[in-house]
Amino acid sequence: MKKTIITITGAAGNIAYSLIFRILSGNIFPDTHKIQINLLDLAEALPILKGVKYEIEDCAFPNLENITITDNPELAFMDSNYILLVGAKPRFKGMQRADLLLDNANIFQKHAKIINECVGKDTKIVVVGNPANTNALILQNFAHNLPAENITSLMKLDQNRAKSILANKLDKSVKDISQLVVWGNHSVTQFPDLNHTLVSDSHDLISSLDKNWINDIFIPRVQKRGAEIIEHRGKSSAASAASAIYDHLSILVNGSIEWESMGIIRENNYNICDEIFFSFPLKISTSNIDIINDLDISENSMKYIKDTEKELLVERDIIKDILKN
Ligand code: NAD
Ligand code: LMR
Repeated sequence: MKKTIITITGAAGNIAYSLIFRILSGNIFPDTHKIQINLLDLAEALPILKGVKYEIEDCAFPNLENITITDNPELAFMDSNYILLVGAKPRFKGMQRADLLLDNANIFQKHAKIINECVGKDTKIVVVGNPANTNALILQNFAHNLPAENITSLMKLDQNRAKSILANKLDKSVKDISQLVVWGNHSVTQFPDLNHTLVSDSHDLISSLDKNWINDIFIPRVQKRGAEIIEHRGKSSAASAASAIYDHLSILVNGSIEWESMGIIRENNYNICDEIFFSFPLKISTSNIDIINDLDISENSMKYIKDTEKELLVERDIIKDILKN
């Protein structure tokens, strides 16, 4: 019987508390498949992890074969098929995600070096801890044994937010909306792009939208949604982030017929630097992640796309000394 090992870091934190249960109760893997879940957090969080483990056991998930809780990254990462790097400081009110960069960089550097020694070439890594795109760059720099294509950073939360805000505006279901992608950084410069979006397989409803609504309400609302959640909850998004990680993992495992958004590092036809993790429009199968490289991009869209690239280049410059160590 096939077995998959999934490792989650920051497993005693807020996102993990939703994520673990979504993955184990969900349908990403076939019923016949066994799952081993490795939960990593800091030593001081081990008592919490023990409680989480008991709760997982109390769910009696039929596919679950084994749970490991540990503060030892080697043990957690060893032979994992999927590693979800959630463990990192979240931001609080008034902070930008990039303000976390130097604090969280050493977590990703340390984990990358260990991952480099303990996993096979097929292991897939999803970077969630913020600032996610640049943490992915740190990871790729130090986990050089792993193909760069195996590392992606989360943009699904942004894509889901954009879809939902648009569906509400049009009084449609999210199921009616396709080809809505988000470019660039998981930050306030990201560009949710409606130019190729279809509603019930047609662009007509998008064409009829007021441009002021798109530019002054829709785009900023998506860009600032994370901060809006923090403003209301006093804490950063957790259940919606977990749901997006679930979607992202499901796409990596099963592919998708939709256009997707993930942060990847890759040569592309859009003149975006190939030394940063950048979110592009993607087609994803069970074996490949391909950039949709032939879209017409208006001058106005290119301005947004170049702004978000510029921000990622600044983030890369901030960590350039770390990348050399
Ligand atoms: P949290 O503070 O509730 O949990 C983080 C956990 O990570 C804590 O339990 C902490 O002990 C653990 N941790 C810290 N250093 C670690 C290490 N070296 N090894 C293992 N575990 C470690 O935070 P959260 O709300 O779960 O958010 C986690 C991260 O995800 C934050 O950086 C947050 O900004 C980010 N986030 C990203 C997205 C996205 O779309 N990319 C969405 C939401 C949140
Ligand atoms: C989000 O988008 O909700 C997360 O990245 C958390 C944050 O800091 O905004």
